[in-house]
Amino acid sequence: MLAYTRGDVPDYQLAAFLMAVYFRGLSTSETFALTDAMVRSGETIALGAALGRRVVDKHSTGGVGDKTTLAVGPIVAACGVPFGKMSGRGLGHTGGTLDKLEAIPGFRVELTTDEFIAQVRELGIAIVGQTANLVPADKKLYALRDVTATVDNVSLIAASIMSKKIAGGANAVVLDVKVGDGAFMKSLADAQVLAEAMIDLGKHADLDVVCVLTDMDQPLGRAVGNALEVREAVATLRGEGPPDFTELVLDSAAHLLALSDLGVDLDEARRRAEQAVADASATAAYERWIRAQDGDPDVAALPAASLVYEVQAPRSGFVGRLAALPVGLAALHLGAGRREKDDAVDHAVGVVCHAKRGDPVDAGAILAEVHAHDERSAREAAAEVLAAYELVDEPPRVRPIVLDTLG
Ligand code: URA
Repeated sequence: MLAYTRGDVPDYQLAAFLMAVYFRGLSTSETFALTDAMVRSGETIALGAALGRRVVDKHSTGGVGDKTTLAVGPIVAACGVPFGKMSGRGLGHTGGTLDKLEAIPGFRVELTTDEFIAQVRELGIAIVGQTANLVPADKKLYALRDVTATVDNVSLIAASIMSKKIAGGANAVVLDVKVGDGAFMKSLADAQVLAEAMIDLGKHADLDVVCVLTDMDQPLGRAVGNALEVREAVATLRGEGPPDFTELVLDSAAHLLALSDLGVDLDEARRRAEQAVADASATAAYERWIRAQDGDPDVAALPAASLVYEVQAPRSGFVGRLAALPVGLAALHLGAGRREKDDAVDHAVGVVCHAKRGDPVDAGAILAEVHAHDERSAREAAAEVLAAYELVDEPPRVRPIVLDTLG
């Protein structure tokens, strides 16, 4: 991996390796070896050791409307547990936390490693872009997987995620493994296999791992698009978020607190997370954190689209299905995401899904809003969003947001 990162091993040899892994898989010990080699391709940060505290981290395998980190981080920090996280950018229909943070005017995602550690020590929270030298092998390998259609392999996904978590230096991590049409893992069984592979890698590296397997068969919360998602995360910190997103945020925060050095069990951890929302200490932690990274925490300062286009229900009934992938693609086509790595992102645009699975709707009711800059792109996105909705006569069975917890 080091030789590949240095450019001594050509892409075509690694491409052949990736294709072999894609078809044959890796054994557990081979996955360990690959992960170790990836970690050793660059620098590692001993965050826990630098703070003299147990540090917790979270990661999501990626979904549509996933702004969980923006709300979980301040709750955990408000409860007195250091939260230091390196986040990535979005690619394709899934958004990235860094792009959401960059919707906030002035926010700086690039801190030096020393600034990052100092901010976690002083404020209890910092979220930054992954430094170029943290698992450089993953950046090269991920780009190669992307162009050789070998992204979708359990060993490669597990090694990619866990190498970054191990190198990032936290002591415990909550991994949100998304399941559904908007996620890498389409079935619960596949997600369980990925979760177990990551838990094994964590044990091998002395990193405590809890995996929450969560529903990505519909967008998470209502908002999809960078500034819209920041607004929703801020509302959730005030206790005014959508029910599915609120539940996921509180559940993830509770696991992180239970894994921390507070010495609390999961029930007490959940109570403290709820309390941080109720007494506004989570909102205060959010504002301190955003200001520390030069951002403006006032949601009125966020960019807004010039045009809001309503998507109306063509008939009455219940929302039987709201597919995540087409909503993510509609947001991408509006400019909220990037098709290619170097594309610019429009932070203002996106989709707000007012009706979610199980909701009753009348004919003509507003199912969703498209936030756009021009009439044509708004109409096109509205057609994509409408096609994501399936209206049925009977109330459907609604899946909970958290499908399983492992680790
Ligand atoms: N997220 C990652 O960081 N890597 C993968 O391979 C898939 C999801």
